[in-house]
Amino acid sequence: MRIIVVGGGGREHAIIKKLKENNEIEKIYALPGNGGIAADAECVGIGATDIDGIVKFAVDNSIDYAVVAPDDPLVMGCVDALEEKGIPCFGPRSNAAIIEGSKVFSKNLMKKYGIPTAAYEVFDDAEKALDYIKTAPLPTVIKADGLALGKGVIIATTREEAEDAVISIMKDKKFGKSGNSIVVEEFLEGPEVSVLSFTDGKVVKPMISSMDHKRAGDNDTGLNTGGMGTVAPNPYYTDAVAKECMEKIFLPTMEAMNAEGRTFKGCLYFGLMITKDGPKVIEYNCRFGDPETQVVLPLLKSDLFTIMKATTDGTLAETPVEFDDKNAACVIMASEGYPVSYEKGYEITIPADIAPCVFVAGAKEEDGKLLTSGGRVLGVTAIADSLQEAINSSYRMVEQIHFDNAFYRHDIGQRALKAKAED
Ligand code: AMP
Ligand code: GLY
Repeated sequence: MRIIVVGGGGREHAIIKKLKENNEIEKIYALPGNGGIAADAECVGIGATDIDGIVKFAVDNSIDYAVVAPDDPLVMGCVDALEEKGIPCFGPRSNAAIIEGSKVFSKNLMKKYGIPTAAYEVFDDAEKALDYIKTAPLPTVIKADGLALGKGVIIATTREEAEDAVISIMKDKKFGKSGNSIVVEEFLEGPEVSVLSFTDGKVVKPMISSMDHKRAGDNDTGLNTGGMGTVAPNPYYTDAVAKECMEKIFLPTMEAMNAEGRTFKGCLYFGLMITKDGPKVIEYNCRFGDPETQVVLPLLKSDLFTIMKATTDGTLAETPVEFDDKNAACVIMASEGYPVSYEKGYEITIPADIAPCVFVAGAKEEDGKLLTSGGRVLGVTAIADSLQEAINSSYRMVEQIHFDNAFYRHDIGQRALKAKAED
């Protein structure tokens, strides 16, 4: 088996390390990968959104299977284009990836099929949106319709902030065409849970739950980021919540997509908020989450490649998806200044014995050295019987990794520990 993995972040590194456990796989190419991924796969200088380049590479190199990990190529139709050349893929086709690609689509889908989510209004006219927010209850949540590098959600606590958000998204086009329409929705409260699931359009098999830490600073202060750390499982995701999610959210979503002629195959990510009225969908993603994947896949006991093929072939019902009964914690080490501006090019040193626990996100290789090249540089995942041990062990490893201007949160997992204590 010769495989390509499209993407080049920590999530892709975690996918590749897990795929390597399968002996059928002789070769993995990462497109484009990164300097750290290069230790586990052959990196090819083709960008994740260069669909023509990806297809040409796959055809020229007799690729047997493709894993398309990031949102942009999925929404752009990378899977459709590869399948046209007879290459089976893990990931949804473009008509199903729209569940992440358009918030207007996903909100309307939930409304049509009675899937619990925040109440909302859609606007494609800035003046009407500005009028509406004059009286909308505060805080109010404003979301650009399309992909916006995870930055298209603004929680406005004052009328001025709400107005600024509408103007910057719809008039100044801060996120380009993604801001042609917006969703203005009700502010929900409660703990957040991420549930990644495998689906072949016939069954949904949820993975172990996880908790992201989106803010840059300790105690959830500072700007929103792509994610500064994760733990799994998420203590708020009890058996009762899981059952309710399966009945009211997971299966209805899969069936809704089928009914719309948009069968979803791949990893469907449910961003949930456990409100006092029950779990509600905050967002769908059409892919593995980053950095959720870095705690979820290390706990996967079953073979990842077998599961991926089963989602493609429609045989997921008879394919086991099992997780270790353990805890995982991942701490992200970033460049000081992320997510705004930061310096790059600093040498990273990682002791060899902890390298297997490190998922590299933003690094390049130069003259045999690994240098920082991004905001989020790497993630360090530890697994242990208890959450506390996993957290301690992850931080012990973080302290042994060095690069100039490194920064990380010191409280990853503390909220989960507190929730457990209150249980
Ligand atoms: P996203 O970029 O879609 O992941 O959203 C970023 C974050 O905004 C989410 O993780 C939530 O914390 C928050 N958020 C999104 N929608 C709502 C909502 N309706 N109510 C409260 N918080 C929200
Ligand atoms: N960690 C959230 C995401 O991948 O969108």
